[in-house]
Amino acid sequence: MQRKVPAVKAVVWHDVGDIRLDDVPVPTLQEPTDAIIRITSSAICGTDLHLVRGTMSGMKPGTVLGHEAVGVVEEVGKDVRGFRPGDRVVVCSTISCGYCSYCRAGYFGQCDNANPNGPQAGTSFFGGPEATGAVDGLQAEYARIPYATTTLVKVPDTVIDEQAIMVSDVLPTGWFGARLAQVTEGDTVLVLGAGVVGQCAVASAKRQGAARVLVVDGIESRLEMARAQNAEPVDYNREDPVEAVLESTGGIGVDRVIDAVGVDAQRPEKGPAADALPVPAATFDEERQLAAPQSSPDGDVWVPGDAPSLALRWATRCAAKAGSIGIIGVYPPNFDRFPLGEMTNRNLTVQAGNCNHRRYIPRLLGMVASGALDPTEFITQETSPRHALDAYRRFDTREQGWVKTVLDLESPDTVGT
Ligand SMILES: NC(=O)c1ccc[n+]([C@@H]2O[C@H](COP(=O)([O-])OP(=O)(O)OC[C@H]3O[C@@H](n4cnc5c(N)ncnc54)[C@H](O)[C@@H]3O)[C@@H](O)[C@H]2O)c1
Ligand SMILES: [Zn+2]
Ligand SMILES: [Zn+2]
Repeated sequence: MQRKVPAVKAVVWHDVGDIRLDDVPVPTLQEPTDAIIRITSSAICGTDLHLVRGTMSGMKPGTVLGHEAVGVVEEVGKDVRGFRPGDRVVVCSTISCGYCSYCRAGYFGQCDNANPNGPQAGTSFFGGPEATGAVDGLQAEYARIPYATTTLVKVPDTVIDEQAIMVSDVLPTGWFGARLAQVTEGDTVLVLGAGVVGQCAVASAKRQGAARVLVVDGIESRLEMARAQNAEPVDYNREDPVEAVLESTGGIGVDRVIDAVGVDAQRPEKGPAADALPVPAATFDEERQLAAPQSSPDGDVWVPGDAPSLALRWATRCAAKAGSIGIIGVYPPNFDRFPLGEMTNRNLTVQAGNCNHRRYIPRLLGMVASGALDPTEFITQETSPRHALDAYRRFDTREQGWVKTVLDLESPDTVGT
């Protein structure tokens, strides 16, 4: 059968501030536990932006970016018993063996075997820094999937690509964020960050029983999207979020907080919060230097966030005494600025981590299939891979209306909507 996409293209990381759409070789099986898939949908994530801005360092030049995909199995290694060529699958962003004690306990993001740098090296994910693999990523036409038995999940026939691609990373991460924050029935929850992960955290917190969900961001279109889920938006460029949250919770604060911002947090540009930063501006400048020792902005593009710990500091001040915080926003391993004293003084519980994707994906696919949840409402652009670099830049500068871009590999001429 003639392939619809003419060239074997992939988004390749060359340097901080330098990514390209390159021709790459079609990957081949390397281990008996591998599978090769033909990708039908991929996507661009906020984590990819950290890698290009330099706020998550240690990328190996030549690594294919991307950790979200839906595709069709082309070939399986001899130890992959559960899949056959032709199966439609979603890829878990983090790689897991399925048999170590961590995987068996549900900590798939801390698998002992997936990371080639050894069991203590932490999470292995597609298209990440050398310390995470490096495993070539999924913004590509084909990919090699290590430990395919666990890293792939079969997609039910009734779930379309646009739904399944959201279950590859962002929806399970939002779900995981609500679990880390310990959301229970009746809770008042604050989600910091209204990017797609924040939107998924809102949807997840509600389905895990939250009675109220407040959302803080500085971008109107994203706050509107949260309002469409009946969340209560707070624009940090108009109000001081700490004051607004305390005021709307009887001065008590919220029971649970989910940080869906991470290291590229920004300072308010205007409004009362701009004059009431929790630490002096110079402290944030120092933090930025620590988080991104190397950056390479191109005008307004690829600029590291100018307040790396701000979301965490707001999280601490918005939480009720003895409340809990779940951190899913990414902070690089070298980042050590954390409001520990305030957290201790207020008896807060804090949990952080990379999503254990494999733990949640089957259940979330079931919820999507049943209609309990439709994550396609957070997709704002669908485009062909040849427009991927433009999509990266517009997403990076947080252009109004750009929340989640899906790369459709079967319709190369699809243009942004
Ligand atoms: N833990 C995991 O497994 C996992 C998985 C996927 C994504 N992530 C991380 O989740 C985060 C969000 O991802 P995304 O795709 O939604 O990215 P995104 O960049 O689209 O969203 C981040 C949002 O935070 C907002 N923001 C910036 N500064 C803020 C502040 N001070 N207070 C409140 N909001 C602020 C931005 O305006 C933006 O809307 C990223 O750090 C990403 O790396 C983690
Ligand atoms: Zn991601
Ligand atoms: Zn494992």
